[in-house]
Amino acid sequence: MTIIETFPTQCSDFAGKIRSLVGLPTDRLLSGLSAALGSVRDKYPLMDDDLPDGAAGGYSRHLLHSDDDGLFSVMLLVWRPGGFSPVHSHWTWCGYVVLDGTLHEDRLHWDVASKQAVVRDRIDRMPGDVVVSSPGLHDIHRLGNARQDIAVSLHVYGVSRDATMTHVNRVLPS
Ligand SMILES: [Fe+2]
Repeated sequence: MTIIETFPTQCSDFAGKIRSLVGLPTDRLLSGLSAALGSVRDKYPLMDDDLPDGAAGGYSRHLLHSDDDGLFSVMLLVWRPGGFSPVHSHWTWCGYVVLDGTLHEDRLHWDVASKQAVVRDRIDRMPGDVVVSSPGLHDIHRLGNARQDIAVSLHVYGVSRDATMTHVNRVLPS
């Protein structure tokens, strides 16, 4: 059994907490989301055989839960060595928690003059680390796996499952 199979039937507490946050002012939504994500790793620990099979490179996205009313979606991202997202900001509120491995995050700022994103710092995120973001160009990042072991993260996006590929990431020049 993978987490992809077990999480949807176990996550009613988690999903209920996220539902209760939708519609709150952004600062309260994000602080609540951060607290909810912070509890995931203890509640739903990964097992040895918990990860889906996948290609050798890049990263893969797996839907764990979608809200019945399309208010949010929960996805598992499995980052293989060398797998990186593009540089992006977000069209929606969102957040993630690292479940396993080390996730590398480049954080960037938007340079108005050159119309591109410029790296401002680089951080390694460890298991249990939580990051939340609101829509807009003030939060720009690139996530990936610079290590030799697989990294795993769980993400919540404030969109329906059908919109996760098109209405979450705003890919930016860098
Ligand atoms: Fe992101």
